[in-house]
Amino acid sequence: MANLLVLGTQWGDEGKGKVVDFLAPAFEIIARYQGGHNAGHTVYLQGKKIVLHLIPSGILHPDKVCIIGNGLVVSPQAFFKELEDLKALGVEVGPERLLVSRAAQVIMPYHPLLEKIAETSRGQKMIGTTCRGIGPCYEDKAARWGIRVADLLEPDVLREKIVDSLALKNRIFEAFGYPPLAAESILAEYLSLGERLAPYVADVSLFLSEQIRAGKSVLFEGAQGALLDLDHGTYPFVTSSSCTAGGVCTGLGLSPREVNGVLGITKAYTTRVGSGPFPTELKDEVGARIARKGDEFGATTGRPRRCGWFDAVAVRYACRINGVDLIALTKPDVLEELTEVKACYAYRYKRTVLKDFPSEPWILEKVEPQYRSFPVWTRSIHRARDFSGLSAGFLDYLKWLEDNLETRVGLISTGVDREDIICRRDELEKVLGEKARLLG
Ligand code: GDP
Ligand code: IMO
Ligand code: MG
Repeated sequence: MANLLVLGTQWGDEGKGKVVDFLAPAFEIIARYQGGHNAGHTVYLQGKKIVLHLIPSGILHPDKVCIIGNGLVVSPQAFFKELEDLKALGVEVGPERLLVSRAAQVIMPYHPLLEKIAETSRGQKMIGTTCRGIGPCYEDKAARWGIRVADLLEPDVLREKIVDSLALKNRIFEAFGYPPLAAESILAEYLSLGERLAPYVADVSLFLSEQIRAGKSVLFEGAQGALLDLDHGTYPFVTSSSCTAGGVCTGLGLSPREVNGVLGITKAYTTRVGSGPFPTELKDEVGARIARKGDEFGATTGRPRRCGWFDAVAVRYACRINGVDLIALTKPDVLEELTEVKACYAYRYKRTVLKDFPSEPWILEKVEPQYRSFPVWTRSIHRARDFSGLSAGFLDYLKWLEDNLETRVGLISTGVDREDIICRRDELEKVLGEKARLLG
């Protein structure tokens, strides 16, 4: 097994940052293929918390090369801010180990403004986005107005693109009572950002192909989660990129042959930020207790995350559409706060039982989750590092999850630190082969 795809199987915030940081030692390169600084991936380095938004979560390992693929939307300001934050924490990152695709899209100042107009126009039906300009930037890409990283290095091309874009966008701003934006000041700012970005800019597809051919291995890091995928998520309450497995090929310029295994990150309960259907949501004190114990506040926006029970219907769907080989289960320690733990195995809808996830919001809003209940296990799992010490109650719960997801669990995260994790070597070896020995 050379290259592994690691992605979220729920609505994001499953603990991808923590797990990618743990797995990074087994790979030479960590590559992101979609999204932007809407992501918030939390990692801890010697007790210090770091939230990564745009830069891959392998960056804390000084010998790893990190990649920002063409499938991302890049805010140059957010990029440099993140590099400064890392530097303040003692993590030096230069162009020798961080590459940005020439073909990645650039988030421009008009994108967050267009997003504000769109969200306000939706009123009650707003998506509840992160307001980072992500959606409008992907809209421009699809509409072929987009400005790509390589354009920032060509003054004449950039000027023409900004002028053409603003000709249309300023009419929208005027219609909604906003002052028009001036092309020249945007041009000056982005040319200067382009100069700073130039040393990082690369043909990522070519670089990765050459590295893979030379025997290097890549961890593909997903942002957001399968249920936020533009095509396969709970549309329209999704993000604007392809978070699922197919995004790797289009977002990095690689063939599907290069993805050799898929690890799904799954939280032991469910959370969601922003609007949209959420069948197992808990609007009561139990949900509030999970949120408190799990510290469920957005890593990017600080918004409280909606919390609910584990939903095996949704995760089974995510495993199917992504071909998940193995699961990393995160945050089961949070459930110890409770006396009873529930997990949904099917939905009831208009007198029928649904075992397959429907993505239509009007169905998801009306389904009644069917639950299996478990007593909370007796011995705490918090910060546990050894599988043999787990209590029978937890093992029952784990077996039930594996049976219902039709997928084995190879990693169990038990706390925020890199070392708070249980590896099931036999399961990991089936997917990672020799690499499993490089972990933990
Ligand atoms: P991501 O977006 O998928 O990377 O996840 P976030 O970083 O947004 O949210 C996950 C949160 O849970 C972070 O605050 C992590 O530090 C924390 N976390 C990750 N794994 C565990 C775990 O096993 N137990 C506990 N208690 N916290 C965890
Ligand atoms: P990570 O990578 C959780 C959600 C937003 C909103 C919807 C669209 O940390 O798991 P956008 O700004 O992307 O257009 O917002 O998607 N969202 C996330 N929710 N975790 C994330 O990232 C998210 N990124 C976007 O809350 O509902
Ligand atoms: Mg997050």
